[in-house]
Amino acid sequence: MKTSILMVCLGNICRSPLAQGILENKLPHSRFFVDSAGTANYHIGHQPDKRSIAVAKKYGIDIRNQRGRQFSTNDFEVFDYILVMDNSNLADVLRMAKNETHRQKVNLIMNEIFPGENVDVPDPYYGGPDGFEQVYAMLEEACEAISKKLL
Ligand code: 4NP
Repeated sequence: MKTSILMVCLGNICRSPLAQGILENKLPHSRFFVDSAGTANYHIGHQPDKRSIAVAKKYGIDIRNQRGRQFSTNDFEVFDYILVMDNSNLADVLRMAKNETHRQKVNLIMNEIFPGENVDVPDPYYGGPDGFEQVYAMLEEACEAISKKLL
């Protein structure tokens, strides 16, 4: 069985597709499955935001084949780790958890490098390109720590 990691944000077009792409690039596909989802249903079937595609490409990662999907309660059964981008995503996901096993799979992604500090990866959707660079840098650092932990 592969170890599976799900990245979750609100729309599944800006932050979690980047987190998926960055972590996929650090882990062998033979042993790991990485996916992403959004808590909202706004962007089901959509390609990632052009600005996320651009910043990923700048660092050598291709996320163009990803498509948006909505987080579902079944994801608690499928995934070993559910890493959310911000405290609002955390509340939304935990509200859907049915038991302690589900709840224990969920963590804020930045807690992987700043344990217990509950730092948000800021939503870059309404801002400029700088926001996407900042998100990329945060996720790169977090995913590096996650890959070291899992490998
Ligand atoms: P994400 O960003 O949660 O990082 O994918 C957003 C994308 C779309 C919207 C909000 C946040 N939206 O309101 O459509």
